Amino acid sequence: MCGISAYIGYRKAYPIVINGLKRLEYRGYDSAGVMIFDGENMHLSKTKGKVSHLEEIIKSKPKSKVGNIGMGHTRWATHGVPNDVNSHPHFSQSGDLVLVHNGIIENYDTIKKELISRGYSFKSDTDTEVLVNLIEEVKLTEGCKLGKAVQLALTNVVGAYAIAVFDKNRPNEIIVARLGSPIAIGVGKDNKEFFVASDASPFVEYTKDAIYLEDEEMAIIRVGKGVKVHKIMDDALVQPEIQKLQMSLDQIEKGGFDHFMLKEIYEQPKAITDTFRGRMLLEEKIIKMSSIETYLDKFLNANRIIIVACGTSWHAGLVGEYLFEDLARIPVEVEYASEFRYRNPIITNKDVVIAISQSGETADTLAAIKLAKSMGAFVYGICNVVGSSIARETHSGAYTHAGPEIGVASTKAFTTQITVLTLIALKLGQAKGSIPQHNFENYLEKMQLIPKQVEELLQIDEKVKEIASVYKDAKNCLYLGRGFNFPVALEGALKLKEISYIHAEGYPAAEMKHGPIALIDENMPIFVIATNKGHYEKVVSNIQEIKSRAGKIIAIVTEGDVTVKEIADHYIEVPDTEEALTPLLTTIPLQLLSYHIAVMLGKNVDQPRNLAKSVTVE
Ligand code: F6R
Repeated sequence: MCGISAYIGYRKAYPIVINGLKRLEYRGYDSAGVMIFDGENMHLSKTKGKVSHLEEIIKSKPKSKVGNIGMGHTRWATHGVPNDVNSHPHFSQSGDLVLVHNGIIENYDTIKKELISRGYSFKSDTDTEVLVNLIEEVKLTEGCKLGKAVQLALTNVVGAYAIAVFDKNRPNEIIVARLGSPIAIGVGKDNKEFFVASDASPFVEYTKDAIYLEDEEMAIIRVGKGVKVHKIMDDALVQPEIQKLQMSLDQIEKGGFDHFMLKEIYEQPKAITDTFRGRMLLEEKIIKMSSIETYLDKFLNANRIIIVACGTSWHAGLVGEYLFEDLARIPVEVEYASEFRYRNPIITNKDVVIAISQSGETADTLAAIKLAKSMGAFVYGICNVVGSSIARETHSGAYTHAGPEIGVASTKAFTTQITVLTLIALKLGQAKGSIPQHNFENYLEKMQLIPKQVEELLQIDEKVKEIASVYKDAKNCLYLGRGFNFPVALEGALKLKEISYIHAEGYPAAEMKHGPIALIDENMPIFVIATNKGHYEKVVSNIQEIKSRAGKIIAIVTEGDVTVKEIADHYIEVPDTEEALTPLLTTIPLQLLSYHIAVMLGKNVDQPRNLAKSVTVE
C-alpha cells in the first residue's frame, strides 16, 4: 500500500512524478504529496485526497513545479488519519532531508520518544516523520553522508518499508531501501537520469531497464555515476541485476474504456489465452509446465496440498481445491494466509504449499510462505506480477499472464489464476493417471474454447446492465452456488460489496437453509449459479425454496436451459462446457453486474473507498 514515485535527472521532474503517482494510485488514495527541488529550495505540496486534488492545488503554485528532482507519494493511511499534515513527503527537523515511505515502522514509538528526548519535535502522527528524523540524527551524530546514515538508521528499525530519501545538500543523489515493500529503479541512458517507483509503471515510457531491490537492500543512486546496491545489515556491496521490462504503455492505460475494471473484464479472453499459450499443447496432448515437471515428485508424493492466499486469490484457491481433488485426486486444504501464519499450523516436508497472489506482494501471503518454507514444505507460487516478492520467495511457480491489473477489484487476475490451477490439476491428473487420457484430451479441447466463449459472454453486457438497473438499490444480496461454483458465488459477492458498498454474502446453495433463508423476502435479490452439470437438480430445489419465500432470483444458467429460466425472475446464459471449467464463464456476468451497479450508483469503480490494490501491511 502507498505508492512512491521519484525522479532525478535532466528532465522536468514534476510531470514525471505526478503522472507516476496517478499510475500508482491503485496502491492507496487517502492523500497525495510531492516535493520538487529547484536546485536551491525544496517545494512541498501535499493534501488529503486524490492526486487530481493535489494537481489542482499545485496549479496556483507554478514555482513548485520547477526542478529536475522530485519525489511524490500517494498514501493508504496506517499511522495517523488521512489529513494534509500526515501526508508524505516528510521533512526532517532541519529541513535538509525529505522522505517518502510505503510500509509500517513497528517500533516508531520507542524511536520517537528517544528522538524527543534529544530535542526533536514532530508535526505529524506518522511513523515516517520519525524515520526521517532518525536518519537525520544518525547523520549528525556519526558525521556521515546520507547513504551511510540511512543504512545505520535502518538497522535500528523494525517493520516494513520501501523508502526514498533526498538530502538537499547532496543534490545529485537519491537513496532508496526496501524491506517487505517493493521498490523499482528505472535506469536512464548513460546514467543521466533515474526513476524510483513502487512498480515500473511510472517510468515505462522512459526506460525499459529496471533494478528491483531485494529485501534488506538499499541503493545509492547518483546521476552520472550509477546505482550502488548495499546490504542494509552489513553494508556489503551487491551486484545489481538490470531487468528488461516487458510492460508497455498501452497495457497500463484505459484504451478507450471508461474504467480500468471494465477494460480488464474485456481483456479476459486474451489474458486466459496468454496464460495457457505455450503450456497447453493440443497436438502433443500434453501440458508443458517446467515449474511442475522439475518438481513432479514433490506434487505426486505430497500428503496434501495447502493453498494459501487472500481475498479474490483465496477464492481462486477454493476453485483450485475442487480442481485438484476432482482431477488429480490429491487432498487439498485452502487457508486464509492471515490465519495460517498465526495458528501454529502442522506442516511437514511432505506438504506442498501453493501461494496465490496477483500482486505478489501481499504481506500475509508472503509471511505464510516464509513460515511454510521454514517448516520444510515445498512452496509453489502463482503470481501475476513478474519479479514480485512472492515470485522470488517461492521454490518454483507459474506466472499468470494477465498483464497489469490496475482496477482495485480483481477480475482478470481471478480467471487467469483459475486457468493456471486448471492446467496444474490436469497435468498432475495425467501424470497420476487419475484422469483417463480421453477425458484429459476432452478437457484440453474444452479449455481451448474458453476464450471464445468468454468473448461471446461479454456481448450480453446490455442485458446485464438492464438487470443491474433493477437491483442497484438493493441493500443486501445473496450469492449462491454449489461445487465448483460455490467459490464463484463468494467472488460475486465480494465484487459487489467492494465496489458498490452493497452488503452481499456468498454461500454454498444448500447452506441457505441453515440460516440465511431467514433474510429472504421480496426485497432480497439472490444470484444463483445453476449451470447444467454437477448439482443442477439440487440447485433447482434451492431456487424453489427461495421462490416460495418471495425472493428475487437472478440465475446464471447454461445455454438452452428450460427449467430454471421458467422459475427465475431474470436469467443470464453462459455457454456449455465441462463442469470443472464453468467458473471461468460464470464469473464473467457477475463481474459485469457489479461493475454496472457501481457505475449506476456513482461509485469510484477503480478506486473503491478504503481499499488498495497491493496489501503490504498485515
Ligand atoms: C478483491 C481483491 C483483493 C485481493 C487480495 C489479495 O477484488 O483484489 O481481495 O484479491 O487483496 O491480493 P493479491 O492477489 O495481490 O495477493
